[in-house]
Amino acid sequence: MRNRFVVGNWKMHGNRVSNRALLEALVKGMQGLEGVECAVCVPFPYLGEVAAQLAGQPGKARLAWGAQNLNEHAQGAFTGEVSAQMLAEFGCRYAIVGHSERRQLFGETDAVVAGKYAAALAQGLKPILCVGETLAQRDAGQTENVVGRQLQAVLDLSGRKSLENAVVAYEPVWAIGTGRTATPAQAQAVHEFLRARVLPDTSILYGGSVKPDNAPALFGMQDIDGGLIGGASLVAADFIAIARAAQRKG
Ligand code: 13P
Repeated sequence: MRNRFVVGNWKMHGNRVSNRALLEALVKGMQGLEGVECAVCVPFPYLGEVAAQLAGQPGKARLAWGAQNLNEHAQGAFTGEVSAQMLAEFGCRYAIVGHSERRQLFGETDAVVAGKYAAALAQGLKPILCVGETLAQRDAGQTENVVGRQLQAVLDLSGRKSLENAVVAYEPVWAIGTGRTATPAQAQAVHEFLRARVLPDTSILYGGSVKPDNAPALFGMQDIDGGLIGGASLVAADFIAIARAAQRKG
């Protein structure tokens, strides 16, 4: 069976005080949330404190944590970069790779993303591989070409079987932070395309302006196994409501 996931991507938000309060509220809200894997991917400097705060959680439903990026090399002269081994040392279970903001703003190519995916796996981290098209690409009828190519670069390097330990996230670039969500049918169409290319048990998340009010319809689609949540992951009540919608998927 495919696991259900709800993952928060805090992006470059938060501070030590607000993080503590947010995590406290999330841990409280997690009670009764069995059956959904929940995690927050936080900025690097906060990983130590987040790990310490989340280490002793009560109950069965636990909030995991991870990073939003990593370097593809194991170690070396890469000023400003962070390795998979460093993330593992802080108890990260997940690392987002190939987020569209990394691809667009920081020039990450398919080959670099594939390297990051492999580096995460090598240290026992679960990569959350993001794929997604821009509005221009969608309008040009290129959506399947683009997400197919982004996925294939990873499969070429690490093999399809590597997906046993990974999660895929479809994030249409035009829906990120814009308040413009893909319709459930639009998202489902791309998820179905991806589904045919991954393993039967690979979880595929949708990301892009997921909120408590649109999550039930999105998660109601056959091939959508949960969400990668930006803005709404900074509001505990919203994140928990979205996780509950994933739990209800049944
Ligand atoms: P928003 O939910 O803010 O649109 O962000 C989505 C995202 O990029 C998650 O990685």
